[in-house]
Order: sequence, then structure tokens, then C-alpha cells
Amino acid sequence: MTEPDLFDVVVIGGGPGGYVASLRAAQLGMKVACVDKRQSLGGTCLNIGCIPSKALLRSSELYAEAKHGLAAHGVAVSDVRLDLPAMMARKQDVVGKLAGGVASLLKKAGIRRIEGTGRILAADRVEVTLADGSLENLGAKNILIATGSEPIAIPGLPIDEKQIVTSTGALTLERVPDKMVVVGAGAIGLELGSVWSRLGAEVTVVEILDHILPGMDREIGKAVKRSLRKQGFHFELETRVAGADLHPGGVTLRTAPASGGDEKKREADVVLVAVGRRPYTEGLGLDELGVARDDRGFIEIDGGFQTTVAHVFAIGDCVPGPMLAHKAEEDGVAFAETLTGQRGHVDHERVPGVVYTSPEVAAVGRTQEQLEAEGIAFKVGKFPFAANSRARVSGETDGMVKILADAESDRVLGVHIFGPLAGDLIAEAVIALEFGASSEDIARTCHAHPSVTEALREAALAVDGRALHI
Ligand code: NAI
Repeated sequence: MTEPDLFDVVVIGGGPGGYVASLRAAQLGMKVACVDKRQSLGGTCLNIGCIPSKALLRSSELYAEAKHGLAAHGVAVSDVRLDLPAMMARKQDVVGKLAGGVASLLKKAGIRRIEGTGRILAADRVEVTLADGSLENLGAKNILIATGSEPIAIPGLPIDEKQIVTSTGALTLERVPDKMVVVGAGAIGLELGSVWSRLGAEVTVVEILDHILPGMDREIGKAVKRSLRKQGFHFELETRVAGADLHPGGVTLRTAPASGGDEKKREADVVLVAVGRRPYTEGLGLDELGVARDDRGFIEIDGGFQTTVAHVFAIGDCVPGPMLAHKAEEDGVAFAETLTGQRGHVDHERVPGVVYTSPEVAAVGRTQEQLEAEGIAFKVGKFPFAANSRARVSGETDGMVKILADAESDRVLGVHIFGPLAGDLIAEAVIALEFGASSEDIARTCHAHPSVTEALREAALAVDGRALHI
């Protein structure tokens, strides 16, 4: 092996986990190579996930606003039309620009970016199959697996990304379906269901459980469901999908009660399967190498992100923990810092979750159900956005802030927000949890008026029964 081919870290995967780990490792003085088979960096998040979906969410929200929401503001518009190709082109342009940005960050940091498919031959060697089929061998003092995740498929629902689609196909539909069935009421189903509902599709969500947004606080989930119903969503809960038959005009979907019973048929132009994701580690050579995985395919790691093979590490969606881009980024930074002798740590309890429906849903810490199950005594403070002046001004009055605090110490244990800018508001709650704040700390902090942040303060006041504006 010649000197230029030996790296301190070879990172496999250029998504939010892998590219951020590469940047932090390079900042810390390491010689880094980042291997990704996509031409465009940024992984699932940037290419076929968070970013394009948020671009379409924004565009579709503007369309729906122009069609149904502007008259109330005294803005008269007529002839509002959808130009779907232009909407898709804008989304792609956003993706392209951000991916270009990631490439230039890597370049600036002196990281060698290799376009190709990586395979781990040994704990110190990665073989890359380049786009032209040729092979390149990289020597590695350490290897980081950051290969992410892929959609879970349901038996009997063959994905063709045209009529039966995953999130990938749902981001590139060529026309608005008349009827769309979404299987799975998680983040992806509700976000992409929102996009196509706003653009005119009749959206039905089929969910196997008796509630939507599993893992989120139930009271918040109920409020989200009510709001989405008002927006035109239909929900079929406690329903499982038994199979589907594709025909030229669409899909005949067979569903049945989750507890058993007769099958029902329903027609759809497009079926979106959004029933979760699973680790993507295909072709890496993990079995040959002896890298252990759990029964769901997640790579087992220790506190320093090391797998069961020394010098081989893993982060992001392919290891246990929340499957979220920002958690992968945290992992990436903590990995690089741990490797260079610093203390890196990611607390999964303090990773916020956001669902970009309208309004948004955001949460950090424990839910009421978790606290009840764990027998932890808690106090709860709630404040509706309907009583917040800024939300009134904007005409976004759906939803509430809910704060859960320890009954004895008043320490904030969980914050759940359904309402305008929830995805941004949650940052204050994450900081509160990080600093071990009490609800009184939030209640005594001055919040600008008029702003939606006041709802958080009022909910904190409500924990102690002293909200002022309700
Ligand atoms: P999810 O795990 O959030 O939700 C999947 C839903 O499908 C669950 O409600 C589950 O009960 C239901 N389900 C499972 N099997 C079913 C079946 N056979 N029939 C009917 N329903 C069924 O998964 P989702 O939405 O696919 O997202 C995947 C991952 O990506 C999650 O970890 C999610 O947090 C993450 N993500 C996060 C986003 C965000 O933060 N805004 C956006 C998109 C994805």
C-alpha cells in the first residue's frame, strides 16, 4: 500500500451521519476519505428524504394557501393553477444546490470524496467499486459505516415506484393522484400524504394501530388527527393491508381489520407504503468480517460507536436509536471526537422529533404514556395556540404546547408541541432538557411579544396552575 492510499478514517456513506463525521474528523486533523455510491452527496435525507419532502411541503402549502387561505386575509386571487413540473423542478434545484454545498464543504476540508460502492475487506481495508466498474483499494486505520436505512416493504405490496411507491416515488409523481392510500400513519405517511392532499388528492391513511404517530404523546396525536381530518384526510385505524393487485388504471388494495375479519377492497391511483425503515448494510461484507447485528439488522455498537470488530465503527440509521438525520449528525461528531480522545456522547432522550405537517408536530423527552408506564409522578401544563396572539394574527390557531414536569422537583421531563413553527420552537425545550431546567425556569424566562414562543412560557406557567392568558 502506498502512502497516499492510507487514511485515518474511511467513511462509507455520505449522508448527514457520514459527511458530518468526515468534516469533524478532518477538523480534528485526520486524513479522511468519504465513499458514497450516489453522484450527489447528502444521502437519503438530502436526495430522497427530508429536503425534497420539505421543499414539496412548502410549495404545496403555498398552493393550498393561495387556493383556500388568502381570501380570509382580504387577498383576492383568481385562476390559481398548479404547475407540477415547475414545483418538481424547484425541489430538484434546492436538492442540487444543497448537495453541491456539501461537496464543496468536503473539498474545503481536504476530504477525499470517492464516488463508488464500498465493501469492507478487512478491518483496515475498503474496496470501492467505482462508477466505471473498476476497483480501488483504500487502506484505513479506522472504518466508519454510515450507510443509513431503506424503506421496509410489506409482503403482497410490490413496489414499482409508480403506482405502489415508497417515499422515493412519492416525491416524483408525474401527476396528482385522484385517490391516494397511505399505508402507515408515521412521519413519512403524514408528511407526504399532506403534500398530495394539498395538491388535490383524496388521501386515506391505513394504520395497523389504533392511533397515529406511534411514539408521540397520545393527546398530541389525537389533536393532529383531528386537524388532518379537517384538512380532508381519511383515517382507517386498526386496519392491516392484506395485499394489492396492480392494473393499468391503478391499484386494488385489500385491507382487513387488524384483529382479523373480512377483507375489504378499495381502489387507489397510488399507494404509498410508509411503514418504517430498516438499516441498509447490504453488500458491505459485514458477515464475513464478523460485525454483529441485532435481530432487526441494526449494527451493534459500544459507547464509542465501535462495532464488534476493532477499528470498525458505525453511526446513524444503521445503529439502534432514533432514525433521524440530526441524530446521525450528532453521532458523527461524537464518533470523531471519541476517536481523537475527547468525550463524545449522544443522549437519545434529548433528540427532538419533528413531523412537518401543517401545523407541525415536535417533541422531546418523555411522553405522558411513558411516564405513566414508568410510574413517575408528573405535573402537566398545557396552553392552546388559540389563546396565543401571534398564532391568532397568523390564523394558525390549531394545536397546543404540553409540558410534563417531575411532580416533586419540577424538572422538565417532556415537551410536546403541535402548532405553528413547532419544529423551531422545540429547540428551546431541548435546551431546557439539556440544562436540566425546571418548568419554573421556562416560566420565569422573558419571551418576546407577540410571538408563538409565548405559548411555551404559558404552558410552563400552567404546570403550576398560573397561566396568565387562559
Ligand atoms: P414510522 O415508524 O414513523 O411509522 C410507520 C407506521 O406504519 C406506524 O404507525 C406503524 O404502526 C404503521 N405500520 C407498520 N406496518 C403496517 C402495516 N402492515 N399496515 C399498516 N400500518 C403499518 O415510519 P415512517 O413514517 O415510514 O418513517 C421511517 C423513519 O423515518 C422513522 O424513523 C421516522 O422517524 C423517520 N422520518 C422522520 C421524519 C421527520 O423527522 N420529519 C420524516 C420522515 C421520516
